[in-house]
Amino acid sequence: MSEMDQPIVSLQQVTKKFGHFEALKDITFTVNQGEVLGFIGPNGAGKSTTIRILLGMLKKTSGTAQIFGQDVWQEDTAIHQRLSYVPGDVYLWPNLTGGEIIDLLLRLNGQQRTEKTETLIQNFQLDPKKKARTYSKGNRQKVALIAALSQEADLYIFDEPTSGLDPLNERTFQQEVMRLKAAGKSILLSSHILSEVEKMCDRIAIIRDGAIIETGDLLSMRHLTRIKMTVRTEDSLTGLEKLPGIYELKFSDSQLQNAEFSVDRDQMDTLMRFLAERKLIDLISAPPTLEDLFMHYYEKRGVDSHA
Ligand SMILES: Nc1ncnc2c1ncn2[C@@H]1O[C@H](COP(=O)(O)OP(=O)(O)OP(=O)(O)O)[C@@H](O)[C@H]1O
Ligand SMILES: [Mg+2]
Repeated sequence: MSEMDQPIVSLQQVTKKFGHFEALKDITFTVNQGEVLGFIGPNGAGKSTTIRILLGMLKKTSGTAQIFGQDVWQEDTAIHQRLSYVPGDVYLWPNLTGGEIIDLLLRLNGQQRTEKTETLIQNFQLDPKKKARTYSKGNRQKVALIAALSQEADLYIFDEPTSGLDPLNERTFQQEVMRLKAAGKSILLSSHILSEVEKMCDRIAIIRDGAIIETGDLLSMRHLTRIKMTVRTEDSLTGLEKLPGIYELKFSDSQLQNAEFSVDRDQMDTLMRFLAERKLIDLISAPPTLEDLFMHYYEKRGVDSHA
């Protein structure tokens, strides 16, 4: 297999035990060349543990974990020359300034400050002259992000990069990820909030209780889920309950002109015709959340396992 076809990150049946506790059970997924993979799961699911194994900070119990086709534990030095990352818990030297820490982090990776670094400091609106101990959580996160993003690497790994960032800085981060993606870099991005990463990701892997429960592109998972709707019409919505693919219907008025429900994606067209005939005044639709994806998975699983 040539280097081009080979996955950049490859985890095969990776397990991790802390004593008797199985933190990771059979973790299998890949990140391909030029791809942004969203690694999504709730608190305690095992995201950081997986990432620490990939970074060679923690030894797996069993399975195969490779980056650039090399073993993450045995060949971590070689791998780290082509890797840039931000860990989940950002530790900064309290008595150094943000700027000094950025320089130090770059030097530790054999790199140095460039024009790109200055642009990032400006874009993230970081004051690099303040001592790290005076920084807020968001500012500490920015220091680590600026150092990681100003490095040239083939693979970027970010563990919950936007935690603590305000919406403006979150957008700056997203723009940086899109820039890296356009440059053909590979990116692994963990988050516990689907909506934070879905714009950037080509594919997602969902982890829960130490196991991967879904992998795939969001579009192919989206059809699994229902859209939440809030509608208001001029005419009564009687008969809405009889339409196919309508669930959890609730009316909030006795004239039946205000309804809340969820709808299957493939019944959207029928629903829209129905609503239009009743003179639609207002419509709010909400995309499925991570929790909806989980719920769907468990409902499906529950039925399968009882069959
Ligand atoms: N060093 C350790 N010793 C014992 N248990 C650990 C250790 N590190 C992690 N765990 C446990 O492993 C599980 C996974 O933790 P991990 O930090 O990987 O979750 P996470 O998905 O990153 O969560 P979060 O979103 O809160 O960062 C948790 O139950 C955690 O308590
Ligand atoms: Mg974590």
